[in-house]
Amino acid sequence: MAIYLVTGANRGIGYEYCKQLQERGDEVIAVCRHSSKELDALANNTASRAKVQIKTNIDISDNGAIASLVQSLNQQPLDVLINNAGIYRQSRLNDLNIEGMREQFEVNAIAPLKLTQALLPNLSKSTASGGKKVAIMTSRMGSISDNTSGGSYGYRLSKVAVSMAGKSLSHDLKPEGIAVAILHPGLVSTGMTNFNENGISPEESVSGLLERIDGLTLKTTGTFWHANGEVLPW
Ligand SMILES: NC(=O)c1ccc[n+]([C@@H]2O[C@H](COP(=O)([O-])OP(=O)(O)OC[C@H]3O[C@@H](n4cnc5c(N)ncnc54)[C@H](OP(=O)(O)O)[C@@H]3O)[C@@H](O)[C@H]2O)c1
Repeated sequence: MAIYLVTGANRGIGYEYCKQLQERGDEVIAVCRHSSKELDALANNTASRAKVQIKTNIDISDNGAIASLVQSLNQQPLDVLINNAGIYRQSRLNDLNIEGMREQFEVNAIAPLKLTQALLPNLSKSTASGGKKVAIMTSRMGSISDNTSGGSYGYRLSKVAVSMAGKSLSHDLKPEGIAVAILHPGLVSTGMTNFNENGISPEESVSGLLERIDGLTLKTTGTFWHANGEVLPW
């Protein structure tokens, strides 16, 4: 049993992480702005020994909210941090949507870095046999080599930035024994993609993502993986 903290836990890929982690017996701290019926059901699942504890009112782009999260954890050890919460805002060449671009930078790039930094004392207390880990949910849309279609300026820029944050973290945290995975979930049918019919299910995506996180070591720290195990180009 390990203790995971997952952001964006109320729906989409984040909720699915919480569900699968509980099913396999891991403990989850589910962080969100507001809960959902599904997430409440996991927290109230008395049939499971694996606890899901919900922390609400946490907007990850709000420094005050991050500070209250850290305070409420009260130095509790944490084994794996999954930086999952993210947003997509349209941003085209003829309508860059500068405010939306800034918002994506705040939520997709700066917040995961800030949260990781804020939770380092909790991660450093981990004694998990599987090792201390940080997962960064980026996107293939943040791969420069893989960009064959342009557009989505704000989202792409914010995801390149968070991938770079993940790579720097992998170097900076190696001496602390913390491994970092930089992950693309695939095209997944969630609210973010308007439940795209060509997307894979959150179940399939998260089962692959958990395989990647489980297999992550200090030797493979800083790798950019597709949920399906493919190593992606930067
Ligand atoms: N779906 C895909 O195909 C795909 C592909 C590549 C990468 N990704 C990445 O995978 C991650 C999860 O995506 P998803 O498809 O599950 O998206 P989603 O269904 O839109 O869910 C996004 C989650 O992030 C939370 N969130 C957004 N802004 C937040 C903030 N400021 N503070 C706290 N929580 C916030 C949302 O909470 P609220 O309910 O409060 O809004 C929600 O829980 C994202 O980082 C996304 O960029 C997804």
